Amino acid sequence: MTKPDPGTVYLDGRFLPASKALIRPDDRGFLFADGVYEVIRSYGGRLFEMAAHIERLRRSLREIRIDAAAAAGIEEVAGELLSRCGLAARDATVYLQITRGPAPRAHQFPSPAPAPTVYAAATPLVPPPADQAPGIETILVPDTRWSRCDIKSISLLANVLARQMAADRGAQEALFVKDGLITEGASSTFCAVVSGCVVTHPLTERILPGITRRVVLRLCRKLGIPVAERPLPASDLERISEAFVLSTSREVAPIRAIDGCQVGHGAPGPLAGRLQEAFSLLTRPNGPDG
Ligand code: PDD
Repeated sequence: MTKPDPGTVYLDGRFLPASKALIRPDDRGFLFADGVYEVIRSYGGRLFEMAAHIERLRRSLREIRIDAAAAAGIEEVAGELLSRCGLAARDATVYLQITRGPAPRAHQFPSPAPAPTVYAAATPLVPPPADQAPGIETILVPDTRWSRCDIKSISLLANVLARQMAADRGAQEALFVKDGLITEGASSTFCAVVSGCVVTHPLTERILPGITRRVVLRLCRKLGIPVAERPLPASDLERISEAFVLSTSREVAPIRAIDGCQVGHGAPGPLAGRLQEAFSLLTRPNGPDG
């Protein structure tokens, strides 16, 4: 057994130090953002909802017409990467990216198809910033993204710009608004509570089918919390009693303000608290040290 090296990454069938992992400059991921990705959490070395992440990755690959065989064995790669990085028993995040591979620059698919580039990296989990506990601040931004947000594409410029706009205004997340309706966060699913009911955008091409969303909606059903899968008009924000965002890295993160206006009492609400507790039982069935 080789000594764990936290700087190990996986690239095209090999585990190697990140500094030695070379991606060709004509890789279509670099030239066209022609690829897809996943972000997966591991809790104490257990990959959370891995089957759902693989299913979504395979779907993204199919939608952009990269052979889904590129994702074969990815769970084993993730597990092996965690141990090679010394993260087999710790909390970590695994990043996976698959691009169409290297080819002379031309918009249409190269023929014959090159071998897709498959990359994975693991990082020890940075605990959520302390500013997340009292609830995060958010801003509303126009949803300028393309119309296939259901594909987990690495083309994230609109999301990057939105998140920077949030940061510039001292907020931690940007919420996209399209045709007057809140779609989702720059890297999270948006939920609001209206008359005791959790309202979240339905699964359409306007949002990413979040894995955390799926888990949390399942928890709502189990806890008897009503759910309405419908978009929330931004003009209805004054009617909400709570709001929160969901994501692999943030889990359930209560929102305390939207565009500087306090949500509810400006502190995490009771439903977010119940969902956070139920979620942590799934990720840490034996308690925080388990
Ligand atoms: N992003 N919507 C968008 C636009 C996202 O980028 C993400 C996650 C989500 C939540 O999906 P999930 O629950 O499967 O993490 C919704 C990842 C974590 C990221 O880009 O880091």
